[in-house]
Amino acid sequence: MDKLPDLTPLRLAEDRLELLDQRRLPGAEEWIVCRDAGEVARAIEEMVVRGAPAIGIAAAYGLYLGCRRLGARGQDAAARGQLRARLTATRPTARNLFWALERMEAAARAHVQLTPEAFLGRLRAEAEAIWAEDVAANRAIAEHGAHPIGRGARILTHCNAGALATGGYGTALGVVRRAHEAGKGPVVLACETRPLLQGARLTAWELARDGIPVTLIADSMAAYFLGRGEVDLVLVGADRIAANGDTANKIGTYALAVLAAAHSVPFYVAAPTSTLDGALEDGTGIIIEHRHPDEVLCLAGVRIAPAGVPAANPAFDVTPHRYITAIITERGVHRPPFRRSLAAE
Ligand code: MRU
Repeated sequence: MDKLPDLTPLRLAEDRLELLDQRRLPGAEEWIVCRDAGEVARAIEEMVVRGAPAIGIAAAYGLYLGCRRLGARGQDAAARGQLRARLTATRPTARNLFWALERMEAAARAHVQLTPEAFLGRLRAEAEAIWAEDVAANRAIAEHGAHPIGRGARILTHCNAGALATGGYGTALGVVRRAHEAGKGPVVLACETRPLLQGARLTAWELARDGIPVTLIADSMAAYFLGRGEVDLVLVGADRIAANGDTANKIGTYALAVLAAAHSVPFYVAAPTSTLDGALEDGTGIIIEHRHPDEVLCLAGVRIAPAGVPAANPAFDVTPHRYITAIITERGVHRPPFRRSLAAE
C-alpha cells in the first residue's frame, strides 16, 4: 500500500489479524487478536469489526490464517471450503464479504500447485491486495463524490461508512473527509443509528477526531431537520447494491431516502464496486440479517423494555433505486438508470 491510512480498523501480521474492537469505541481503543479463521468469524459476528468492506478484508485474511493453521491441507479444496463456509455464515447481507472470499478462492486455485509456503504467501498477498485496493477505491470515491459538494454543505449521514467500516478513509465519510481537506467546510448531522449506535459511537468519534464538525441527532429527528431546510444532501454507504440500483444499507436508510425525496434533497450512496451484486436483478433478492432481539430490548447492556415483550431486529433495509440520486463508486458518479450506468465500465 502506498500510504497507510491514518485510521484503519485492521492490522495485518504474518500470524495474526488485529482488529480495533468497535464494540468498545469511543470509550476504549482496544485491539483484539485473531489467529485463525474461527476467531475472525466470531469477531465478524460479534461486530468487533463491522462495515461491509472491512468485514470483507477481515474474512479474506481469516481465510489466509485458516489455511496457515491447516498447513499443507490448506491446499485441499474441501478443507478450504469448510473455512469459507464458516466465514460466509457470519453475516449475510454485505456483498463484500462474499466477494472477498470468492477472490481468495480464485487465488488459491490459481496457486494450488506451489509449495505450501509459496501458496500461503500468495494467499496473504491477495488479502493484502484486497485491503490496499479498498483504500485506493475509497480515495477515488472521495474524489468523485467531493467534487460536486458545495461550500459549507450540510450533510446528513447514517450508521458509519467511514475509515472504521473499510480498509481506511471511508466511503460516505471519505467523501466528507475529502471535502473537508479541500477546504469546503462540510458539516455533518449524524444519526445515532439505533440499535447499535454506530452513528453516535463511531461516526461522531471518527469525525471529531479529524476536526470535522459533527452534530449527533436521534434517528427520529431526521424529518425535523429536513423539514426545516437544514440538510443539503443525504450521504450513506451500502452493504449490497443490486443491478437496478436498489441498495441495502443499515436499517433506517430507507426512511431517510423517502424523507429526502419528500423534501427534494439529493440522496447519495457511496460504495466500492465490490459492493455491487450484478447477479441480483433488484433488491428483493437481498438477504437481510436479523440480529438478536436483545440489541433492541437493551441499551448499553441495560434492559429498557418490559420483561416478556418481544423485539424485531432487522439490521438492514433496502432503499428502492427510485429514491437514489446517484451512486458514487471508484469508477465515478453513476446516475439513473443504474442498470446501465453501473454496468458500464
Ligand atoms: O451492521 P454494520 O455496522 O456492519 O452496518 C454497516 C453499514 O450499514 C454501512 O453503512 C455499510 O456497511 C457501508 S460501510 C462503508
